[in-house]
Amino acid sequence: MKISFASLGVPDRGAYVVAIAEGKVLSKSAADLDKAHKGLVKKAIAASRFTGKRHQFLTILAPSGMGVNRIVLMGVGKPAELTAFQAEALGGNLYANLAKTSDRDVFVSLDAMSGMKFDAAKFAALFANGARLRCYRFDKYRTKQKPDDKPSVQRLIVQCAKAAAAKSAYAKMESVSDGVVFTRDLVNEPPNVIYPQSFADQLRQLSKLGVKVEVLDEKQIQKLGMGALWGVAQGSAFMPRVVLMRWDGGKKNDKSGPIALVGKGVTFDTGGISIKPSQGMEDMKWDMAGAGAVAGAMMALAKRKAKANVIGAVGLVENMPSGTAQRPSDIVKSLSGQTIEVLNTDAEGRLVLADVVWHVQEKFKPRLIVDLATLTGAIVVALGSEYAGLFSNNDSLANKLTKAGEGVGELLWRMPLCEGYDRDIDGFQADVKNIGSGRGAGSCTAAHFIKRFIKDGVDWAHLDIAGTAWAAKDNGPTPKGASAFGVRLLDRFIADNFE
Ligand code: BES
Ligand code: MN
Ligand code: ZN
Repeated sequence: MKISFASLGVPDRGAYVVAIAEGKVLSKSAADLDKAHKGLVKKAIAASRFTGKRHQFLTILAPSGMGVNRIVLMGVGKPAELTAFQAEALGGNLYANLAKTSDRDVFVSLDAMSGMKFDAAKFAALFANGARLRCYRFDKYRTKQKPDDKPSVQRLIVQCAKAAAAKSAYAKMESVSDGVVFTRDLVNEPPNVIYPQSFADQLRQLSKLGVKVEVLDEKQIQKLGMGALWGVAQGSAFMPRVVLMRWDGGKKNDKSGPIALVGKGVTFDTGGISIKPSQGMEDMKWDMAGAGAVAGAMMALAKRKAKANVIGAVGLVENMPSGTAQRPSDIVKSLSGQTIEVLNTDAEGRLVLADVVWHVQEKFKPRLIVDLATLTGAIVVALGSEYAGLFSNNDSLANKLTKAGEGVGELLWRMPLCEGYDRDIDGFQADVKNIGSGRGAGSCTAAHFIKRFIKDGVDWAHLDIAGTAWAAKDNGPTPKGASAFGVRLLDRFIADNFE
C-alpha cells in the first residue's frame, strides 16, 4: 500500500473517511460534508447506533452525483484521551475496515480536534504508521488466493492541514516500522526455511546499513567453550550460530560501554528428549522471536542513524531429540565456567542465553543488558498476551523500559526476583540446575537462571515475551501472526534515554 499526505478536501474517487468524536461531535470535514449534502452525515448517525466511540465505523454509500463511492464515519472517541498508540491503532483498524471493500483509494481527513494531545501533523503521521503496520501480509507461500481475500486498497491518502509536516514526521517512523517488518518476516518464516545458518545469513544483510555483523560458527562456538548453548544444539542436524551485531552511532571511545540487546533464537523447539506434546508444537517455530526482535531493533537503529552505541547478540540453535541430543541429567560446562545440570531439555532457552550474555559481557563490557526471550509457558499463564514479563536487578532500568513500552503499546509488567527463587535452582551435583524443583514460579526461576550469568554490578533486564511475540488475532497496528514485540520498545528505550 502506498501512503501519501495531502491537504484537506473532498476527493473525487474511492472512499472518503471523516472523523467523529464521541458524543456524535462532527469534525470540520464531517460538518462540511453534512452541510453540502443536506444533512447526510447527521441522518446516517441518527439512523444507526454510531456514537463516535473509538474504533466505531459507519459506512454510507455515497449519493449519486458524488465522485466518491463511499463515505466512512470514523469514531475517534474523546480527542483528549487519544494516546499516540491509540492513534496508530485507529489507523490500523481503519485500514482493516476498508481493505476488502472494492475501493483502491482511501482518503482520510484528519482535522485537528479540540483537546487532542498532539497536533494534526503528528496525528496524521501516527495514523498512517498504524495503517502501514496493519497492512503487513506474509503471503509469499500462497500459490492461489481467492480474489475476495486480496485487499483492494492500494493507496492511503491522509489529509491534514500540515501535509508537509505530517510527511516528515511519518518518514522518521518509517525506519522503525521497517525494523518491525524485518522481524515479522523472520519470525513468520517456517523452521525449515529459517534455521540457525539461514537466520545468520539474513542478519548479514544488516551490514548494508552500517551494522557490523560477526557470525560465530559451530567451531568457534565450541572453541570458545559455549558448552551450555552447544548442549542444546547438539541434537540437531543444523549447526548453531551466534551472531554479534554492532551499531556505533554514539560517541567514540565512550567509557560507559555500549547497550547490549540479547535474543533467544531457538529456530524450533521440540523440547528435545524432554519432548513436547504434538498438539500446539507448531507454535515453537516462533521460539526465535527474541532474536527476531533484537534483529529488527538493530535495523531500526541503523536506519534512523541512532546516536547510540548498541550491541545486538543472538544465540541461534534448534532444539531436537535425536541420538546425539543431550539427555535429562547431562552436566554441561557453560562459558562462564559454571556447570549446569540439564534436568529438562525443554528448558533450553536459558542455556542458550547463559552463554551469549556471558560472551557479551566479556567482549563488550556493556553498560547494561536487556535480553528478550520466549522463555516460559508460565509467563503466558500469568500475564496472557497483554503484558510481557519484566525482570530486572535495577529499578531505574525497569522503569525506563516500562515507560518506553507504554509509549509504543508494548506493555511490561514487573515480576519479582528474590533469594528463595535463586536457591531453588541450586544444583544437586553441579553448580546450578536448569529448572526449579517444584511447579511454581517457573518464569521467576527461569529469570534467576539467566541472572546467574550476569556479572555483579551489571544492570540487566529480562523480558519474557512468550505471551506477546505472536498475535492470535488482528488488532490495531498488528495483524495476526508475528507481532515483533520488543522492536519498538527497544527503539524508544534507546531514543528516550541514551541519545
Ligand atoms: N519456548 C518454550 C516456552 C514457550 C511456551 C514459549 C509457550 C511460547 C509459548 C520454552 O523453551 C519452554 O519449553 N519452557 C518450558 C520450561 C519448563 C520445562 C521448565 C515451559 O515453559 O514449559
Ligand atoms: Mn523449550
Ligand atoms: Zn524454547
